[in-house]
Amino acid sequence: PTNALAKTPPMGWNSWNKFHTHIDDAAVRGVADAMASSGMKDAGYQYIIIDDGWQGSRDNNGVLSPNPNFPDMKALADYVHSKGLKIGIYSSPGPRTCGGFEGSYGHEEQDAKMYAAWGMDYLKYDWCSASRVWKDSDMQAAYQLMGDALTKTGRPIVYALCQYGRAEVQTWGQQVGANLWRTTGDIRDQYNSMLNIGLAQSRLASSAGPGHWNDPDMLEIGNGGMSLDEYKTHFSLWAMIAAPLIAGNDLRNMTPDIKDILTNSDVIAIDQDSLGAGGKEIYSAGGAKVWSKSLASGDIAVAVFNPGEQSIRTVLSLEKLGLSGKYQARDLWSHTDLGALPENFSVTVPVHGVAMLRLKKSS
Ligand code: DGJ
Repeated sequence: PTNALAKTPPMGWNSWNKFHTHIDDAAVRGVADAMASSGMKDAGYQYIIIDDGWQGSRDNNGVLSPNPNFPDMKALADYVHSKGLKIGIYSSPGPRTCGGFEGSYGHEEQDAKMYAAWGMDYLKYDWCSASRVWKDSDMQAAYQLMGDALTKTGRPIVYALCQYGRAEVQTWGQQVGANLWRTTGDIRDQYNSMLNIGLAQSRLASSAGPGHWNDPDMLEIGNGGMSLDEYKTHFSLWAMIAAPLIAGNDLRNMTPDIKDILTNSDVIAIDQDSLGAGGKEIYSAGGAKVWSKSLASGDIAVAVFNPGEQSIRTVLSLEKLGLSGKYQARDLWSHTDLGALPENFSVTVPVHGVAMLRLKKSS
């Protein structure tokens, strides 16, 4: 990308998964307050992103106003900034967004300038109706237009592409200045949707790196459609992928269990590791899917997922993990140090759950 942002995967909150288009200034301020006071900000969450549904209409000069639910975007951005957070907004390279609101087609520079003037720090740019005016083979050019427009503003703005993984985006996303790109269709708050999206990211691992990330869509943790073990799987899998961690629940009303998942610092450290390597599935056996991810310190993150309908006990070996030498392990969900690992060791993984370890080489 042309900016120097997102050296680690962006962390934040987005309005879509919980609120869809039913958002307003007060809700966004409330979520910003909750992010700052709940421990989410301390855990690394930063961006408060307004998704589809904020737009009003364009005037005769093409200037787009927010709808009446957002009386003053600049004041809202100032408020979010006053909490020590950053703010993001949403548009489309097409004439209309997916929700049928004004897109940026033909107004790219004008809109980019306005976002910068408001103080926006992040733009999610969603394909939606763009197929009416651009062919799929023009997708890169369409995204380049806004990428250039953002650069021209001189304001550092994270650029998030949303085109559902079409047109092999991972091969050109960086060239248009993007910091992240969606690799799949929309996630649902449902175990199979989340799991299938997450497991399919293994093949894209080599496209992730500092400044440019695969985005398997936003988190559904806390929205009610999965068990706690399933949400732990969701968080662990996204961390192994080095995915953006964009919460999608109502931060103003979180149970302690949900907050504990979203603020698990041991797991967040895997996601935010400075090496920026994407994790991969290394093998699948006895119902377990075993992933590993290399970390900057030389440590290795290992996650064992259990998509089955029964709890399993799986024997791992350093050899099967492709490791030699001696390792100390830490359990990243119980937050306990397990000491030196024998050559063979077992982990228990609940139904639809995960076991996640950090292995540290010892001399
Ligand atoms: C489709 C995207 O994939 C969603 O994340 C959301 O932005 C909606 N469009 C908004 O209309």
